[in-house]
Amino acid sequence: MAIIVNKEKIFTLNTQNTTYQMYVNEDGVLFHSYYGARVGECDLSYASHKPNWNAAFSSNPRGKGYSHNHTSEELSVFGVGDFRLSALALVNHDGTTGAEPVYHSYKILKGKYQIKGMPAFYGDEGETLVITLKDKAYDIYFHMYYGVFEENDLITRALVIENKTNSEIKLNKALSVTLDLQGGTYDMLHFYGAHMRERLLERTRITHLTSTVSSVRGASSHTQNPFVIVCDKSATEEFGSAYGIGLVYSGNFVICAEKDQHETTRVVAGINPEGFEYTVAPNETFETPEVAMVYSNEGFAKLSNNYHKAIRNNLCRGKYKNARRPVLINNWEGTYFDFNADKLVAMAKDAGKLGVELFVMDDGWFGHRDDDRSSLGDWFVNEEKLQGSLDNLVKRINAEGLQFGIWFEPECISEDSELFKAHPDYRLAIPNRDPQLSRHQFVLDMTRKEVRDNIYDQMVEVLNSANITYVKWDFNRHLTDIYSAALPKERQGEIYHRYMLGVYELLERLTSNFPNILFESCSGGGGRFDLGMLYYMPQAWTSDNTDAIDRLKIQYGTSFAYPVRAMGAHVSVCPNHGNARVTPLNTRGNVAYFGTYGLELDITKMTDEEKAEIKRQIAEFKEYYDLIQYGDYYRLLSPYTPDESRYCAWEVVSEDKSEALVCTVAYDSKCTVQPELLKVKGLDQNKMYRINGSEETYLGSALMNIGFWLEYDHLSYASRLYHITLA
Ligand code: DGJ
Repeated sequence: MAIIVNKEKIFTLNTQNTTYQMYVNEDGVLFHSYYGARVGECDLSYASHKPNWNAAFSSNPRGKGYSHNHTSEELSVFGVGDFRLSALALVNHDGTTGAEPVYHSYKILKGKYQIKGMPAFYGDEGETLVITLKDKAYDIYFHMYYGVFEENDLITRALVIENKTNSEIKLNKALSVTLDLQGGTYDMLHFYGAHMRERLLERTRITHLTSTVSSVRGASSHTQNPFVIVCDKSATEEFGSAYGIGLVYSGNFVICAEKDQHETTRVVAGINPEGFEYTVAPNETFETPEVAMVYSNEGFAKLSNNYHKAIRNNLCRGKYKNARRPVLINNWEGTYFDFNADKLVAMAKDAGKLGVELFVMDDGWFGHRDDDRSSLGDWFVNEEKLQGSLDNLVKRINAEGLQFGIWFEPECISEDSELFKAHPDYRLAIPNRDPQLSRHQFVLDMTRKEVRDNIYDQMVEVLNSANITYVKWDFNRHLTDIYSAALPKERQGEIYHRYMLGVYELLERLTSNFPNILFESCSGGGGRFDLGMLYYMPQAWTSDNTDAIDRLKIQYGTSFAYPVRAMGAHVSVCPNHGNARVTPLNTRGNVAYFGTYGLELDITKMTDEEKAEIKRQIAEFKEYYDLIQYGDYYRLLSPYTPDESRYCAWEVVSEDKSEALVCTVAYDSKCTVQPELLKVKGLDQNKMYRINGSEETYLGSALMNIGFWLEYDHLSYASRLYHITLA
């Protein structure tokens, strides 16, 4: 039993290696007792209070020996005695604020709960606990949802606020989680960046200042990712306590952590309250996004692998959740907007000979779009550019043995478009103000059903018009001018969230009506790479930066939460279009192997030698496909420590530990290169292994504790694969 309830007082969630416990005190307050390594069955409630604590300037419920400010409550409310980070701030119909949630009831559901209109982990193997709290003074209910996946040590949470009063209430803040960690000193790992350098790792001490990771861009964004790891200050890849906190959400978010005045570390996470104000009508509910938490007391590698498995098995959906994904070629870096059907078919012809399975036509096929200034919203084929119908082009590509995929940017509109002429009010714009342009485009008001229906109908027509098996869903700007012509003035604070709900609704409709299409999400590269999007689209374009060396940091950072299988990664040409760096072709291939592997170049311009190398890569990638996509992932040498080793290295290991694949990439060549031993991870310590079929055999424990000698690489940016197999 993953969920144990003791006399409606103690609620324990157990996974294979973790325990999460709460308890209800005599006043009905739901306290958080513990989250961490699994402990046997016992009452841990003593841990949620500081003993005999009576600090000055604390506030107490009348006649009680505790203060809300010194205890750990599952739902921290603003304005009623807890002065720390809070998860909830609401205004009642009469203008009064605050809430005092007390225990009302609980239920256990079979299988994992789902959240109305929003992405969430799913699965019959999961279990659900719902604890319902009720405000002492008003008929407002707080349904605290807990999902438990024993095998991957995953615990999810979400909050549903139900208004059973006769009047509207207003939410100024409705976060998904409060998590208190008693004692200790913690660090936070977060993943920041920008376009072309997404999810770079930064590790910062959680101090008495608040550390905040957030977005107000209407998308999770390149700038910060809605995922952090809170860990012991000494935690490493293999050692120490680490808590993963990931929001299953793609819009404005916030994750804050701070040490309070009594040295308890508090983390809160959810929808960013900035620009948020939500009215809940009588008998209506408000659902917060889900937060997915994994705890590991064996460092980051274990935590990452649990996320990877849970994402693969319990978040991604559809045919391509498990099916082999085709090796694709995308024409973007190969042609940008400058293409016609003949050019694309020529590329497909050459690509097909090398083993490529899918041709993706990127931006520029619709309306009259030859640059980024027009036609978004006009999802009809530019037949002049495509020298005929889409069906005709697809048939020609299919005849070369390749499937066909297509690019859309459904959430945006160009001023120079038929859609804008017909519906100028469809964009987000503040009356009397000239809305902000970004990449010459505006954002559609996805809160409106008629807007979504318009885009949906156009997309369906295109998708039904030809044999299309892949869609790239792009989004190349962020939200500004937050005003919806369809909402009353008192509900304008709902736009950011309603926008996301609208996008999710459209995605749900499309993905369920086209179950055979592989969807890949994208947002100017990796600007919306989050758990929310992966629920609808099982892979995401990791970054517009295709330089193999920059990708080391980008893919390294991404790997802390997200599996290889989700990371779009392509081989492109040199000098790289983004940074002009020249890297060996096999290095570009090796780096892209640890993602979805594809090509993004004009294959017709490659030399015979380069084509032969690509052919070899595709064959090699296919050979290692299962090992790479489903193996346990280990970060061996960080791209952030080039002074400690000349290499960046990582590894995947099959579940049965019978084989592993290690990839190394060398940095700049140094004249005095020292031979280096590389320690690997995850092998069976008692078994003998060979490396690349060597005669020499090595004991697993030797490879993990001493390592093996890396081949000497003189060349800058040289890369090697080491295939480790049982001897
Ligand atoms: C941004 C994407 O990340 C690129 O791959 C490409 O699709 C362009 N948009 C097209 O405009």
